Amino acid sequence: MKLSVIRKAPIQCETEALIVGHHENSQYFEGAAKALDEVSGGLLSYLLDTGDFRGRKNETVLLYSRDLLPAKRVLLVGLGKRDDLTEEKLRVAMAGASKRIRELKVKEFALSLDFGDCKVPAERAAQAAAEGIMLGLHRFSAYKKEDPDSIEILSATIIDQRAAHVKIMKSAVREAETICNAAILARNLVATPPSEMTPALLAREARRMCRNTSIPIKVLEPPAMKRMGMHALLAVGRGSAHPPRLAIMEYQGAGRGKRPVVLVGKGITFDSGGVNLKPASGMEQMKDDMAGAATVIAVLKAAAELELPINLAGIVPAAENMPDGQAYKPGDILKSYSGQTIEVVSTDAEGRLILADALSYAKRFKPAALIDIATLTGACVIALGDYLTGMLGNDDRIKEGIRAAAERTGEVVWELPLWEEYEDLIKSDIADMKNTGGRAAGTITAALFLKKFVEDGIPWVHLDIAGTSFSPKDKGYLQKGPTGTGVRLLVDFLKNWTYRTDGPNS
Ligand code: BES
Ligand code: MN
Ligand code: ZN
Repeated sequence: MKLSVIRKAPIQCETEALIVGHHENSQYFEGAAKALDEVSGGLLSYLLDTGDFRGRKNETVLLYSRDLLPAKRVLLVGLGKRDDLTEEKLRVAMAGASKRIRELKVKEFALSLDFGDCKVPAERAAQAAAEGIMLGLHRFSAYKKEDPDSIEILSATIIDQRAAHVKIMKSAVREAETICNAAILARNLVATPPSEMTPALLAREARRMCRNTSIPIKVLEPPAMKRMGMHALLAVGRGSAHPPRLAIMEYQGAGRGKRPVVLVGKGITFDSGGVNLKPASGMEQMKDDMAGAATVIAVLKAAAELELPINLAGIVPAAENMPDGQAYKPGDILKSYSGQTIEVVSTDAEGRLILADALSYAKRFKPAALIDIATLTGACVIALGDYLTGMLGNDDRIKEGIRAAAERTGEVVWELPLWEEYEDLIKSDIADMKNTGGRAAGTITAALFLKKFVEDGIPWVHLDIAGTSFSPKDKGYLQKGPTGTGVRLLVDFLKNWTYRTDGPNS
């Protein structure tokens, strides 16, 4: 789909459908809606008079303009209360409106963001609308036979009469497009069936992204991992016919001496639980256990395409967790890349094992910040549900930067404490630690485990996306299935990075 911004008045816009907005309970139309109403002799205001349209959040009404307007149809969309309008509400409203238009089976539509007196400035509104449209209309259709009834929308055009607005909206939309294409890549990687999306394919996809963006990449295979002593990652992959990979990508957008932000993403391409086999029900969803890895690959893509002035490394440990004669077992003791030993209590707590080796590997970059993102614990889904990503970490500045990015992008995070007393729960009698601390505080003990592999002094944040990587239903600009969560969040975080302070802008 092509997204563009052009200078045009709504009353002159020839299109299959024109989206215009209205604030809830405002007695009069404003902006684009007002202009359309006036030249059409009250086509729209009839709806306010009858009370059939109030402008409630996400309410839509489709009008046919006959010959009264150059736009064949007008889709009125409710924006909710004027004072409550946010970018996130705009994303959701525009996703809903564009899905409504897709039902019409037209190939193109236009929208005006001239809502009259509006809390969200034009540039932010354009970015939010573009995101809502792109993410809202995206479908993973690679495995469906061509449906003659499903016509894809080819172009969406934002119109505005104000030349100055057009200019800033254009660059906001171009940026939104780049970021959403990255998020869509992440969604598609996660949606790909697990027998195809093996560690090798995940690494190949990373390579392909790097080739297209000229980012150097290195992919380690088991012999190299053995030489280096990455026995935690190796153990998790040992029960699988598809051996593990470790992909290391390095985007350089700032000077050589600048310390990078390092991203680490969990890449379990299928989590059966291993010998501690998971229950059958819902196991198909465990193909999304590489969502963190997909996010890291996508964030590097966006950073390179946006030419962000930052140094950024991405580390993706990839493995498939399967039961087999060769598989690692409960009771095993693994020597990690850091040298610390781990007693395996559950082979289903595999994510932290592959992350352990990847986090220790990150040390060589001397990270200015180290951020890992992982579908790590079912406990996080229980605690925070499917809207909130869990955040834990040792550095207030980085956490604050993530929180600010979360606020702006609508990819919300909630902090849980790295409660040190709970470290006792992962003490082992015969190794340096064990890989689970039981059910209580499961998200926290998982993070405390990871912390043992983060070198002292490295500012580190862990994001648990077990609940947010996959949506159980269509909601707003998310479809049922992979969400691509973390991509917009981390790109926004990186956009606000400054080498003036080696940290996020505050
Ligand atoms: N990949 C799962 C976590 C998960 C659960 C993600 C549900 C998405 C939805 C992870 O590897 C896992 O199995 N964690 C265990 C840890 C336990 C054995 C300590 C869990 O959460 O049950
Ligand atoms: Mn598991
Ligand atoms: Zn897992």
